[in-house]
Amino acid sequence: MASKLLCLALFAPSLAETAQKVKVEFFAEAGCPFCRQAIAGPVNKTLSMPSVAAIMDFQFFPFGNAYFVTTECKGAGDYDMAARKCFNKNCGAGASQPPKDCFTGALVCQHGSQECAANRFLACAKTVAGENLLPFMSFTHCVEASYDTFSKDTVSACADASQIDKDAVFRCYSGSEGDDATVAQAKATPEHPGVPYLLVNGQAVEQPDDLLKTVCKAYQGSEPDACKSMDTWPTHPIILQV
Ligand SMILES: *[C@@H]1O[C@H](CO)[C@@H](O)[C@H](O)[C@H]1NC(C)=O
Repeated sequence: MASKLLCLALFAPSLAETAQKVKVEFFAEAGCPFCRQAIAGPVNKTLSMPSVAAIMDFQFFPFGNAYFVTTECKGAGDYDMAARKCFNKNCGAGASQPPKDCFTGALVCQHGSQECAANRFLACAKTVAGENLLPFMSFTHCVEASYDTFSKDTVSACADASQIDKDAVFRCYSGSEGDDATVAQAKATPEHPGVPYLLVNGQAVEQPDDLLKTVCKAYQGSEPDACKSMDTWPTHPIILQV
């Protein structure tokens, strides 16, 4: 009997650890108001609770409704939603036979060059941060919070505050590494009705404020304490950027 208990005591923690992490994929672009709201609100809250951050496999893809002009989807000039949707379908995550010119044409961002620049800085920060999700997401949080006065100084200050190597970020931004980082986000972005777009284990979460609730519900291991207190969170309805 005693040995059986000992056995359980030894194995229980490792069993808990083997519960699969909840896969969270977040797709957004710099500057869109409800993307910023989601980043400042539910995304920040969820990542800021270490016990919850620990049960998530969280990924953020800073590309949103941007697209590259292709022969089939077109879309040169101003942002064109139909071209964007065509691009996501033909060239994004899950595309079965992406054409060769998916990422060779002009890049079009929904709200112009500042958004393209900020997305590229975010993609570079993601590359520089590597496996270190929290510095990257702190950087994202900082850039989005300062988006109205965005400049290179914003990037410097946010990199310093998030302990991301700012020289590496600027080097990436100015070179082909920045192109690669941007293409990687574009490739990983699936078809989506609008942004912000959140998937938990592949299922869309309509209200970003439901992120924590959804993650807690999806987790098969023992529930972190932080999961027990969140039923009372208010929901702020969002408007998608389409
Ligand atoms: C969360 O928000 C705080 C400010 O309220 C910020 O300092 C912190 O970097 C943010 N963390 C993440 C992971 O976004």
